[in-house]
Amino acid sequence: MSSNESLANLLKEHRRFAPPPELAATANVTADAYRRAESDRLGFWAEQARRLSWEKEPSETLDWSNPPFAKWFADGRLNVAYNCVDRHVEAGNGDRVAIHFEGEPGDTRSITYAELQREVSRAANALTELGVRAGDRVAVYMPMIPETVITMLACARIGAPHSVVFGGFSADAVAARIQDADARVVVTADGGYRRGKPSGLKPVVDEALAKPGTENVRAVLVVRRTGQEDISWTEGRDLWWHDVVDRQSDEHTPQAFEAEHPLFILYTSGTTGKPKGILHTSGGYLTQVAYTHHAVFDLKPESDVYWCTADVGWVTGHSYIVYGPLANGATEVLYEGTPDTPHQGRWWEIAQKYGVTLLYTAPTAIRTCMKWGDDIPARFDLSRLRILGSVGEPINPEAWVWYRKHIGGDRTPVVDTWWQTETGAIMISPLPGVTETKPGSAQVPLPGISATVVDDEANEVPNGSGGYLVLTEPWPSMLRTVWGDDQRYLDTYWARFENRYFAGDGAKKDEDGDIWLLGRVDDVMLVSGHNISTTEVESALVSHPKVAEAAVVGASDPTTGQAICAFVILRGTASEDDGLVEELRAHVGKSLGPIAKPKRIMPVAELPKTRSGKIMRRLLRDVAENRALGDVSTLTDSAVMDLIQAKLPGAS
Ligand code: WT7
Repeated sequence: MSSNESLANLLKEHRRFAPPPELAATANVTADAYRRAESDRLGFWAEQARRLSWEKEPSETLDWSNPPFAKWFADGRLNVAYNCVDRHVEAGNGDRVAIHFEGEPGDTRSITYAELQREVSRAANALTELGVRAGDRVAVYMPMIPETVITMLACARIGAPHSVVFGGFSADAVAARIQDADARVVVTADGGYRRGKPSGLKPVVDEALAKPGTENVRAVLVVRRTGQEDISWTEGRDLWWHDVVDRQSDEHTPQAFEAEHPLFILYTSGTTGKPKGILHTSGGYLTQVAYTHHAVFDLKPESDVYWCTADVGWVTGHSYIVYGPLANGATEVLYEGTPDTPHQGRWWEIAQKYGVTLLYTAPTAIRTCMKWGDDIPARFDLSRLRILGSVGEPINPEAWVWYRKHIGGDRTPVVDTWWQTETGAIMISPLPGVTETKPGSAQVPLPGISATVVDDEANEVPNGSGGYLVLTEPWPSMLRTVWGDDQRYLDTYWARFENRYFAGDGAKKDEDGDIWLLGRVDDVMLVSGHNISTTEVESALVSHPKVAEAAVVGASDPTTGQAICAFVILRGTASEDDGLVEELRAHVGKSLGPIAKPKRIMPVAELPKTRSGKIMRRLLRDVAENRALGDVSTLTDSAVMDLIQAKLPGAS
């Protein structure tokens, strides 16, 4: 069997879901958009840029004279925060709620656009008082609270690029990011609530700032969130938010910046070496996040309540909690805590309470909810939901179907959105009012986006075949470079294939030409010369009724090159009796072909995940190959690995 035949055998998924007729009839974006963008891609993006309010409208759309360094809307000038806040107030929508905040302990706060304008203005005045000028970098290390959004918008308002560091990262990670971006001010909080307990943030900043290379930080602005008392304080450097921000004027005149003015740096881990500071700029970024949020979530700002469960520390939070929804005048939920605090129905309780209509979450969260059981969401009224989104990794068909059925009441379209920190905004996704969806596939590039799948020699593969996902034309929200390292930008993304952006993901085109993402290319196994994606074997395992979640790795094997090794979490009631492993192997063999049968299957209690929810296959590979474990510092819970190792044959 050739690798193409093996791909053709995999992911046989015949279920189809047409858009609900009412949604199709009133959708923000219809099939015309594809035709319009195809006939004049740049004209299409110029039209989308007009969703924004420009101080000076751009006359030029794309400058690609020095590829791959793009300039979009280069002679336009705008203020990003004005677009996300003030213009909605000026349009008469100041009383509309921008953010329904729900703290983990149950405290709540609803902030209208008019209030948000005052808060952002105060924070912008405070940062200015602290000496922050346009171009200075501000590091943000915060829990999921309104002040985080306010800080990001205040930075945007004064043209100071922010570098948000996820609140679960260690002092080393914080220090490395402060150093690389040469941040001048850090905004943080005493702590945040997680799993029912306050967890400290300020102590981590203190530890980071004790490390060399962080000396340029002259002020640390600290929000009081948990009220912990044992906070250490460096006089002359540390300032309470309530002392400095609250006394500022609530008026601030936003100044317009060039479209290519840096908006933020966000670090993403490379497969090797230090994290890359992905640089995003203003006009093109805001155009594409606003357009895609409007198109993919069909947002009707007067009636929808939108909720993205990501952390603002990830790009999903930047683009689809802060900039996209607020540019569109959305009302959204912001939730601080974990989905199972104080009970496993917390998310659905929140969705019911605020009447959430549009939900955006990750496959790992969906599979966790599957594991907890169908009866939990069933206790809540989720009838207002009308669109469900997924992002972050390939969603296996069983989780997709479960999401639609148990969360979406079998009515709502599920939109599987493929994109990356680097792309800034959604690139490949169904449109909820247009696309007949296929569980497990992100399907088609959005209007104005050009993507395809190529083989090793950069030839486009025919339908039914697999290869590498590439983007073939520049797009408005593309990264502009790796901060301080143009060469790394060229080497990482533009060197593999000439004139094409290499995304690092494996993908296949099905018989209809729809795109299926198969995971990072380093997640492809080579078993007896056959390419088998970890995702496909995981999907097959999860389609078995006794399996809640699966992680698959290729372990080196003397005869087959790599051997498939699977770690599975069983569903609540399933027990690990003798026959189960054989049953699962047979099940995979039946769904994918005998070549894909795992050599080993190990039932485990938990899987090692990064804080963004990605399974750390690298560590599982270490286990499968009987090696000492590599770096576990980015795991949510490093005890997980001890549990897994304790289960191995030979463990004491
Ligand atoms: C990688 C980018 C995009 C925001 C969150 C992650 C994987 C993301 C999907 C999807 C299959 C997906 C890819 C991509 N990925 N969305 N819908 N289907 N894979 O951002 O941390 O920069 O990760 O996440 O492998 O390259 P990120």
